[in-house]
Amino acid sequence: MPNFEPENTMKIGILNETMPGENRVSVSPTVVAGWVKKGIEVRVEKGAGERCAMLDTNYIDAGASIANTADVLNCDVVCAINPLSTELINKVPSSAHVIALMYHKSNTDYVQAASATGAGFFSLDAIPRISRAQSMDVLSSQANLAGYKAVIMGANNMQKIFPLMMTAAGTITPARVLIFGVGVAGLQAIATAKRLGAVVEATDVRPETKEQVESLGGKFIEVKDASVASEGGYAKEASEEYRAKQREAVNKSLATADLVITTAQVPGRKAPILIDEEQLALMKNGAVVVDMAAAQGGNCCSTQSGALINVNGVHIDGTVNLPSTLAVNASELFARNMDSFLQLITKDGELAIPMDDEIVKASLICHNGKILVD
Ligand code: NAI
Repeated sequence: MPNFEPENTMKIGILNETMPGENRVSVSPTVVAGWVKKGIEVRVEKGAGERCAMLDTNYIDAGASIANTADVLNCDVVCAINPLSTELINKVPSSAHVIALMYHKSNTDYVQAASATGAGFFSLDAIPRISRAQSMDVLSSQANLAGYKAVIMGANNMQKIFPLMMTAAGTITPARVLIFGVGVAGLQAIATAKRLGAVVEATDVRPETKEQVESLGGKFIEVKDASVASEGGYAKEASEEYRAKQREAVNKSLATADLVITTAQVPGRKAPILIDEEQLALMKNGAVVVDMAAAQGGNCCSTQSGALINVNGVHIDGTVNLPSTLAVNASELFARNMDSFLQLITKDGELAIPMDDEIVKASLICHNGKILVD
């Protein structure tokens, strides 16, 4: 059927992710259907959702058209998950508004290239952690899934089961799980390990997380007489004095843990080391560390990003991009976050960016050839 859309209809393009190992897509057919209902024209790059069971035919049924890369880029809004490739970024027209992850603080060359296009670039990872922005917070939606998967991966690399088991052949004691960092990923890891029957302990620089750990049935390890300030929902860097007290508080649990999951991050900085060589040497033979901060340098001194290694009998898993291993759910949630964000920057099916809104101010990294956020 010929397309009789009027010329001024807003167009949204959905890119195919080209980063190796990426199985997710930024917008699902369900969200596309909602946009089409509002009179928006949606173009999906061929095969964009194929790796997470969202087929071209599903997008066509939702009212989108399947397009090549150039036609997808030639839209008012271009949606993606990862930062665009070098090859692609130079082809973004100045009239476009790209919504994707940018990691702008540590990706300055990318920000320069994005700004040079003259287009608007929104960085979803720069959305502030405030209540109103929760529905757009891709870091939280993805970290939640990653926290679950970290436990499953850890379980898979252990030679023990999680629950207490009383059998005719004897009793098996429950596995002991220790979690560093009780943010989004850490809380989900606690809940998942508890559901599987483990004895769970957790620690965080923010003392207020004690109640959350306990409400999930875990034991909070308190670092006595010390805490670290937080800002915008994220912790600041811990001092050496804090680290010494933390070591003292956690080492007994570290020595008996079967699985350790580390999730500590300080935005814009290398991940803090929470398990140093001396602490690693305390750990049991056969114990597993899943280091969720591997991509930011790791919370464990020996972590290798993207690899599973064995250091004196301790398995250290530095697998990155865990949400991609749960691409169906991860894409569904990412798409809903994207939909909420789009609602903020559109009105009646037209682009209407509220430039004074605090979410826009924090996430619009560059626009009209100018870099707007440090
Ligand atoms: P979050 O900011 O919600 O939680 C991090 C927690 O660590 C906070 O509660 C913070 O107070 C705590 N923390 C910071 N420094 C600490 C220290 N020195 N000692 C103890 N606790 C400390 O972050 P979220 O969203 O839970 O993500 C956690 C980590 O997982 C991040 O490094 C993130 O990049 C990573 N991640 C990894 C994925 C993967 O595929 N491997 C996927 C999603 C997230």
